[in-house]
Amino acid sequence: MQHLILVTGAGKGIGRAIALAFARAGRHTPGFNPLLVLCSRSQADLDTLSKECRIEGVDTDTIACDLGHIDKVRLLSEHVIDRYGAIDCLVNNAGVGRFGALADMTEEDFDFTMATNLKATFFLTQALFPVMEKRRSGHIFFITSVAAVKAFKHSSIYCMSKFAQRGLVETMRLYARECNVRITDVMPGAVYTPMWGEVDEDVRALMMRPEDIAEPIVQAYLQPGRTTVEEIVLRPTSGDLQDSDEG
Ligand SMILES: NC(=O)c1ccc[n+]([C@@H]2O[C@H](COP(=O)([O-])OP(=O)(O)OC[C@H]3O[C@@H](n4cnc5c(N)ncnc54)[C@H](OP(=O)(O)O)[C@@H]3O)[C@@H](O)[C@H]2O)c1
Repeated sequence: MQHLILVTGAGKGIGRAIALAFARAGRHTPGFNPLLVLCSRSQADLDTLSKECRIEGVDTDTIACDLGHIDKVRLLSEHVIDRYGAIDCLVNNAGVGRFGALADMTEEDFDFTMATNLKATFFLTQALFPVMEKRRSGHIFFITSVAAVKAFKHSSIYCMSKFAQRGLVETMRLYARECNVRITDVMPGAVYTPMWGEVDEDVRALMMRPEDIAEPIVQAYLQPGRTTVEEIVLRPTSGDLQDSDEG
């Protein structure tokens, strides 16, 4: 039986590593046969990723769309429901960050961040959770951040969005426990991905890598159904980067 796994923001960074980790697990784990539905904005990234996943022997389906627009969130959820009628795992990973001093943040920064981190995460979860609820099985991962529980000075809007995502995570647990659905909050500290733009070599050396986040997610998914890994908190061994940095 195939496991239908939807990864948002799969084109780059942590989402890409999660997709590849699921694909590799499909190759090496007896009885685990993932079908990866991969979404992000850039089709070129998805095409490259899809090829790499298929080399591991798993099936893929790609959808390039900007989840910052609610009609595209609906398009994605309808695609999954109409085409497959089921979903085993939703990885709410797509996220954006605009970082800077409080005084420099604009209304456009606010709306841009909230559209993807909050609105898309909420409405995609709202649309797909009932499918899991009905089947009394499924697993939803939320890639929040250590910035969902800890403030960083140059991350005001980003922190707001991540603290709020955590509110959704905790609410979803209340629904999920009633219908055998698993919820995992993944809270990474600084991971070296395109989200950070240019990073000095000495700082880069302190940061985690996307695969460091991806492997524990796959391990959590492959736990027996009776067990839920509720939280995964991963930090650079030397701790968070300075308070003025994003995370
Ligand atoms: N990197 C870190 O240090 C860190 C730490 C903690 C938590 N996180 C969280 O981890 C998640 C992934 O971050 P990352 O560092 O991997 O970011 P990234 O390198 O910027 O990659 C983000 C991916 O998400 C896609 N995406 C962004 N907005 C989207 C939208 N509106 N619709 C569809 N796809 C969208 C991007 O697509 P395109 O490239 O095609 O635009 C890209 O493939 C985010 O939720 C982030 O907040 C990151």
